Amino acid sequence: MSAILISGKDLASDKRLEMKQEVEKLTKDGTQPGLAVILVGNDPASRSYVKAKEKACHEVGIYSVLQELPESVSEQELLAEIERLNQDEKIHGILVQLPLPKHISEQAVIETISPEKDVDGFHPINIGKMMIGEETFLPCTPFGIVEMIKSKDIEISGKHVVVIGRSNIVGKPVGQLLLNENATVTYCHSRTKNMKEITKQADILVVAVGKAKFIDADYVKEGAVVIDVGVNRLESTGKLCGDVEFDEVKEVASYLTPVPGGVGPMTITMLLHNTIESVKRKLKATV
Ligand code: GUN
Repeated sequence: MSAILISGKDLASDKRLEMKQEVEKLTKDGTQPGLAVILVGNDPASRSYVKAKEKACHEVGIYSVLQELPESVSEQELLAEIERLNQDEKIHGILVQLPLPKHISEQAVIETISPEKDVDGFHPINIGKMMIGEETFLPCTPFGIVEMIKSKDIEISGKHVVVIGRSNIVGKPVGQLLLNENATVTYCHSRTKNMKEITKQADILVVAVGKAKFIDADYVKEGAVVIDVGVNRLESTGKLCGDVEFDEVKEVASYLTPVPGGVGPMTITMLLHNTIESVKRKLKATV
């Protein structure tokens, strides 16, 4: 058996086409959606993600500003910049690229972004709303994963989802979103014992560990849906690869997401979605 690939690239491209029309309409009616991205320091991976976000904004007609701050910027200066963007009428979404230098508290940064402009969905208010199933900004990677699963009409309700990874950005929220879709959710992480026994029970396996080719076919039940969130650069070849041993797992899984061209493009697409959503909410609130 060879798994059906879920192409995030194709789904993202369909969604962006629709978004472009929506942005054109909003702009014509007087409000062009605007996204501010703050990049602190010179991490090459963060820089390339931020550039991809800017390019995607341009592609659908969203106004974007990139604020580049030096590694040495103080927490106070960064928070002041966020406060300024909170007040900026042209900006509907604010994203501070993570990780941040050690002398800056990520939590203080996240909590300074106005929840109404928190298009990453990281503010505790938005996380709380997500937990209780209220409408809010959903974190982009988990949101993109759910969209990818749904795009193939794969049933989530009643299925056993196993999430490997418990980060605040991906692992924890993706489990919560799939629970909201009535899945039975199990989390595995670095302290989990007998991980293979657990992952082998998964109907849907979400892998977000950040280790190249960590999951081979031995971890996967025949016919499982496997979502690979990893983006790792192989030192030997310089090529990108996921957390899943693709060539092996594709012979066991029913559906599999590739890397690159899988979850990555969907993450950025859901950021665009959230930015547009922010404008729509603001317009609704002012009618
Ligand atoms: N770093 C890695 N992923 C993300 C993300 O989704 N948002 C932000 N702000 N930083 C990240």
